[in-house]
Amino acid sequence: MFGALKPLPADKILQLMQMYREDPREEKVDLGVGVYRNAEGVTPIMRAVKNAEKQLWEMETTKAYTGLVGDAGYHKAMTDLVLADSVDRARIAAAHTPGGTGAIRQSLELIQMAAPEARVFVSSPTWPNHLSILKHLKVPFTEYRYFDDESRAVDFDGMMADLEQVKPGDVVLLHGCCHNPTGANLNPVQWQQVGDLLLEKQAMPFIDIAYQGFGDGLEKDAAGVRHLAGRVPEMLIAASCSKNFGIYRERTGIVLAIAPDEKTRDVTQGSLAHLNRQNFSFPPDHGARLVTMVLETPALKADWMDELEDVRLGMLDLREQLAGTLQQMTGSDRFSFIKEHRGMFSRLGATPEQVQAMRESHGIYMVGDSRINIAGLNRDTVPILAEAIVKAGV
Ligand code: LMR
Repeated sequence: MFGALKPLPADKILQLMQMYREDPREEKVDLGVGVYRNAEGVTPIMRAVKNAEKQLWEMETTKAYTGLVGDAGYHKAMTDLVLADSVDRARIAAAHTPGGTGAIRQSLELIQMAAPEARVFVSSPTWPNHLSILKHLKVPFTEYRYFDDESRAVDFDGMMADLEQVKPGDVVLLHGCCHNPTGANLNPVQWQQVGDLLLEKQAMPFIDIAYQGFGDGLEKDAAGVRHLAGRVPEMLIAASCSKNFGIYRERTGIVLAIAPDEKTRDVTQGSLAHLNRQNFSFPPDHGARLVTMVLETPALKADWMDELEDVRLGMLDLREQLAGTLQQMTGSDRFSFIKEHRGMFSRLGATPEQVQAMRESHGIYMVGDSRINIAGLNRDTVPILAEAIVKAGV
């Protein structure tokens, strides 16, 4: 049977992780996978998470199953974090999923169950796994322009022109903040215009929010999602706790589905429970329990917010350093977009050949589309990257 299997293309981000591991050079720089690292190159366990973990170890008395869609406390804490009071809670169905990827997968399966003919519009470019899951599930999709290669900013006119093609019942996948892979984001006015268009076209927004708190802060990063949630009759949100709680391997995510009314919400909730049961039964509990404890305990929450803010400001500082060094080296402002981008990533706009040249000459690993993980840098490696960029002629 297995002889019938065909080799599949490797995930580019995971493939790059492997290449980096196998490179024997000591001075190599990993700007590939989206994992936060501090100045020492470590992905720390956040203080509040570690404290919650200690308390949980003392308190936890059973490892019996939780609910099929996870814990109500987790749903509430995450709804507060992502949506605040933007929408009536009675309209929200929720399901805890293994990571943000699990939330995307469950959301797409829900779309497939409800409207198999619906097309999903995705930004070009987007996180490669979006496309991969869409193809795997055979969900019809089409791309909309998003990034202007010249200015390295959002190509908003192109985006709106392409979204004119959206039909009633179609789905538009948007990154809530910190767009992956470009780092270029919609401003508040643009979010409003996208909202107007979706309402006019009767299309449903589907928001992937995996970096809340990494861009302009917890509240501002959720402003676009909340704006749409307050206006549209239906919406899907896939949120991840991997990055902002630093619990990557705990696989902690959530689907929030906003239904037009309570009756529809109840059926949607049942469908999400059904999908969890079919795909993996009960979600992994540990990460969600830590998140709930952190968000519900004022001292832990305050400490988490402080640490998250330090992480965010550290990345902004690295952006300033990189843009400043490039400005000095080139005598031009053409890299100032690095300061405008937000989140972990920036797309530099280098060709695949230039990306390869930087890897060979300076041991710098970035994704083939020239996405860099800002958090993979530190004071010492910023000048190395800047030199590589200039030498490669980006
Ligand atoms: C990334 O884009 O690097 C992260 O979201 C990690 C992953 O799973 O691809």
